[in-house]
Amino acid sequence: MARGKTSFICQNCGSVYARWQGRCDACGEWNTIVEESSTGGIGGGPQRTKRKGKPAALLPLAGESEEAPRIVTGIDEFDRATGGGIVRGSALLVGGDPGIGKSTLLMQVSAALARRKQSVIYVSGEEAVAQVRLRAQRLGAGDTGVMLMAETNVEDILATLDTGRRPDLLVVDSIQTLWTDMAESAPGTVTQVRSSVQAVIRYAKASGAAVILVGHVTKEGQIAGPRVVEHMVDGVLYFEGEAGHHFRILRTVKNRFGPTDEIGVFEMSDIGLREVQNPSELFLGERNSSAPGAAVFAGIEGTRPVLVEIQALVAPTSLGTPRRAVVGWDSARLAMVLAVLEAHCGIRLGQHDVYLNVAGGFRIVEPAADLAVAAALVSSLSGLALPSDSVYFGEISLSGGIRAVAHGGQRLKEAAKLGFRRAVLPAAGLDLPKDMDVAAQAVEALPALVAS
Ligand code: TYD
Ligand code: MG
Repeated sequence: MARGKTSFICQNCGSVYARWQGRCDACGEWNTIVEESSTGGIGGGPQRTKRKGKPAALLPLAGESEEAPRIVTGIDEFDRATGGGIVRGSALLVGGDPGIGKSTLLMQVSAALARRKQSVIYVSGEEAVAQVRLRAQRLGAGDTGVMLMAETNVEDILATLDTGRRPDLLVVDSIQTLWTDMAESAPGTVTQVRSSVQAVIRYAKASGAAVILVGHVTKEGQIAGPRVVEHMVDGVLYFEGEAGHHFRILRTVKNRFGPTDEIGVFEMSDIGLREVQNPSELFLGERNSSAPGAAVFAGIEGTRPVLVEIQALVAPTSLGTPRRAVVGWDSARLAMVLAVLEAHCGIRLGQHDVYLNVAGGFRIVEPAADLAVAAALVSSLSGLALPSDSVYFGEISLSGGIRAVAHGGQRLKEAAKLGFRRAVLPAAGLDLPKDMDVAAQAVEALPALVAS
C-alpha cells in the first residue's frame, strides 16, 4: 500500500490535528496526541474508490412499528441498567477502569443468557482461553454453553462467526485489543479502534446479533478510550466503583432504546458480582448517626430511590488558601453552596478547610443533594449532630431559596421504609402522598433552616 497521509489524533477524544501538539484543545488532556496513518477507517483514504451510488428505498415515517425485541438476562440490576434487556441487533459499550470487574460482569451476563438457551460467543483479546475458563469456573459459569474465541483480528472474528450459527449475543473484550487489516496504525490507536468497532457494529446490524463491547478507560491516554466510539454505539454503560470499596455501579449514560441515568448496583465478592437489591441499606450500613457533620440525603438514581450519607468536615485552616476537597460530588456545586451560606446565612468559611465525602464510594449527580450538603456543613461547623432520624433533599438556588425537586413521594417512601421519621424538604411543588409515616418539615429558604 502506498504510504498515505498521516494525521495527529488525540487518543482520548479522537480530535484530529494537522501537526503534533502537547495538549488536546478539545478535551484538554496532555500527551494524548499520536501520529497515525489516515489510510482506511472512517473518512476513508487514498484507497477509497469512486463508486456510483445506488438508490435506496424511501419509506414513509408513518407505518408499522414494533417494540425493540429484547434479550432479558435475568440479572435484574443489569437488565434495569440496559432499560429492560439487551436489544437484538444493537451495540452496547461497557466502559470502566481496568480491574473494576468488566470481564467478570460480562462473563456472568453471558452465562446467564446461555442458561436461558441463548447462544453466546465471548471473544477475549486480553486473556488466554485458559484464563477465561478459570474465571468462569470461579463464577460458577463453567458448565454453561458459552463459546470462547481468543482472537483480536476483526476479519478473522467475523469470518469465524460466518461459519456457524448467528449468536444471540457477541461479547468483545476489549475494543482496545481489536485490529483490522483496513487500517494501518497500531492496535489500540483511535483509527484501529474506530474501524474495528465499526466493522463489528455493521455485523450486529446485518445479522441481528446483539453486541457488547468492552472498553477500558485510560488515564494516561496511551491507548484510545471508550469515548472515541461512544457516538457509534446504541448504548453506553459505565462500570464504576471506588478503589477499596466493594460496591460497583453500572451507570447508563446513553441509551437509544431506553432511559439514561439508570443504575445497577453490584457488590464484588470472591465468587463474582452479587446483585444489590436495596442499595440504601448498603450505603447506610456503617452509619454513626450521633456524629456531627453527617446528613442523610434521599436521592433518586434513574427510577430508584437511594439513600446515602453525606459527610462534611469543617475545620480552621492553617494554610493561606483554605482547602476544599470533595469525593463523590461536584466541587463546583460545593463552592456554590458555600457561597450561598456566606451571602445569605452569614456563615463565613473563608478561614476553614472544607472536606466533603459521600459515604460508601457512591457518586451523586443530582442537584437535589444541595440541602443535605448544607445541613452537613452547618452541623460540622457547629459541632451539633443532626437528628438521626431525618433525611434531607432539595436544590438550593443562588438567592438562598430551596427549590422543588422531582419524585418527592418516592424519596419519602424509601426513607420511611428504612426507619426515618422526619424529612427536611422544599416547601414548593410538593406532591406528597397522604398516608405518610414521615413528618415533613418544609423549608422555603436556607437561612430559616440554618437558624433552626
Ligand atoms: P476483571 O473482571 O478482570 O476486571 P476488568 O475486566 O474490568 O479489568 O476483575 C478484576 C478484579 O476483580 C480483580 O482484581 C479480582 C476481582 N475479582 C473478585 O474479587 N472476585 C471474582 O470472583 C473475580 C472473578 C474477580
Ligand atoms: Mg478484563
